[in-house]
Amino acid sequence: MQYQEICENTIEVVREAASYIRGKHEDRSNLNIEVKGQHNFVTEVDKEAERILVEGLSKVVPEAGFIAEEGTSTKKGDVYNWVIDPVDGTTNFIHGVYPFAISVGLIEHNEVIAGVVYEFGLDEYFYAWKDGGAWLNGNPIKVSTVTGLENGLIATGFPYTNFTYLSQYMESVEYFMKNSHGLRRLGSAATDIAYVACGRYEGFYEYGLNPWDIAAGILLVKEAGGRVSDFEGDNSPLFSENLICSNGNSYDEFLKVIRKIMLSK
Ligand code: IPD
Ligand code: CA
Ligand code: CA
Repeated sequence: MQYQEICENTIEVVREAASYIRGKHEDRSNLNIEVKGQHNFVTEVDKEAERILVEGLSKVVPEAGFIAEEGTSTKKGDVYNWVIDPVDGTTNFIHGVYPFAISVGLIEHNEVIAGVVYEFGLDEYFYAWKDGGAWLNGNPIKVSTVTGLENGLIATGFPYTNFTYLSQYMESVEYFMKNSHGLRRLGSAATDIAYVACGRYEGFYEYGLNPWDIAAGILLVKEAGGRVSDFEGDNSPLFSENLICSNGNSYDEFLKVIRKIMLSK
């Protein structure tokens, strides 16, 4: 497997889906919004974009299967699987607010080996392949070198369907309000994680995530020199449903704070 070539071919497929989504974003009067669950929406744009991605990616690695949010393909690959979110930030998309993004990762067994996040608002392609570094629109990116959470900007996603840990989560919000440069909630986890990779944020955390929200981002942060894990510290968090990621300098402190607050009680 030539990881770089796969990544470059993946970008081309993402470009195709992006061009379709951009066209639909200009006229959002007819999105056919469906409710998948509480506060969880899907539009015909999510479904058609996923179809474009599945069709194109099937040619990039023919033996690979799919873990795709809208269920376009349920083919399972023995070794390789694409992990796809056709529109990450659907609520933003519906309301005409940025950011929203396409997120595509390729996993070899459970390890992400190539990843692309395309964010529409700033027209930014974030991508990485295993041992090839992380890139933004052709330029290498690195996590920030800031030390100490009190000197960092932290991103998160608010719980919107799973309120099991809401009281702990609210405590964490209060903690970062008081002990960081501030807390941001943009509404697209894939974008949040890409922003950690390029040094805009020092850290990101959220619970109730799916693998398609984070697959590409996990590799971006790792290849940009940062660290990723779940709230317990397991550094293979793809299927953990919760994630922290940060620059290398802040990770130990971040994990300690999250573990103490989110895993208490
Ligand atoms: C959601 C967004 C949001 C995050 C949620 C995700 P979707 O993805 O990434 O920022 O807070 O956890 O499910 O549903 O728009 O693809
Ligand atoms: Ca998502
Ligand atoms: Ca989505």
